[in-house]
Amino acid sequence: MKKKISLIGAGQIGGTLAHLISVKELADVVLFDVSEDVAKGKALDIAQSTSVDGFDVNLIGTSNYEDIKNSDVIIITAGVPRKPGMSRDDLLGTNLKIIKQVSEGIKKNSPNAFVICITNPLDIIVMALQKYSGLPKNKVVGMAGILDSSRFKYFLSQELKVPVKDINTLVLGGHGDTMVPLPDHTTVNGKPLKQLIKDVKLEKIIDRTRKGGAEIIKFLEKGSAYYAPAASGVEMAESYIKDMKKTLPCASYLNGEYGVKNLYAGVPVIIGKNGVEKVVEVKLSDKEKEQFNLSIKAVQELYKTAQKIDPEL
Ligand code: APR
Repeated sequence: MKKKISLIGAGQIGGTLAHLISVKELADVVLFDVSEDVAKGKALDIAQSTSVDGFDVNLIGTSNYEDIKNSDVIIITAGVPRKPGMSRDDLLGTNLKIIKQVSEGIKKNSPNAFVICITNPLDIIVMALQKYSGLPKNKVVGMAGILDSSRFKYFLSQELKVPVKDINTLVLGGHGDTMVPLPDHTTVNGKPLKQLIKDVKLEKIIDRTRKGGAEIIKFLEKGSAYYAPAASGVEMAESYIKDMKKTLPCASYLNGEYGVKNLYAGVPVIIGKNGVEKVVEVKLSDKEKEQFNLSIKAVQELYKTAQKIDPEL
């Protein structure tokens, strides 16, 4: 039987997700948005490309939560994106309210789905989503690490003039300026990265990775990145739907792993048919540990701010 993926938010990322999922024939797609016409328009547009591209999926646009019933996967991008000069944290108040509504819609209509959150500020929004919806923690996960790692890989590939596929790396921690790219866990064709690049260059690339989203916002002016975020979300959905058990860096609930309890943050996890099947603990160097802890602190601080906005959290 065909799988079903519902996309809550049919904006820039939502539309791109719908297109990618369709081209890959991963599942039928429901595009949900408060702006029903946008959802319907995008669904119709992509549906009209099926005969050209030869894929067989059903797409609908809606603003009725009943249409997301029995989804296998739900991907959430509902919310506002950043404008130039804004940090992801500046979106907190607005996006928390939106995520509360979305959580209720999911809880009522599709509580068995695997839910991937993309809305920022990611680590806090995904944690709020899990609390508001009451869905199992292994079925609620955030997309950030794949995107941050792919930005890091891209910049390294440009610098070292090697294909991105030759680079293996990880970015952990919160999805913000304190994220932790792990050069000591990065290899290029199996060789340790540090043997191939000068420290000064590497620091510049790490800094550019941390600010990768802001660099794009500055170019676009209206809105933030959407192609790479959508591709990253699809990789998570595919690993779940096809039970691929890929190890992917995602914002996942931590219950003691990496010394962190009761918080969502970016770590490598195995995604298979049961959702997040395992948190993979990689050994961090002292410096990496220090940076990871700083990043966790930033997430904890922002969570406290969220609790002031909504004591229910
Ligand atoms: N329910 C459903 N959809 C909503 C709601 C809601 N309560 N509120 C807003 N939306 C919809 C908007 O109508 C819009 O179509 O969410 C969509 C968001 O799309 P964009 O503004 O194009 O934003 P996008 O670039 O897709 O980013 C969405 O992901 O990466 C993050 O920081 C980004 O938080 C932002 C989110």
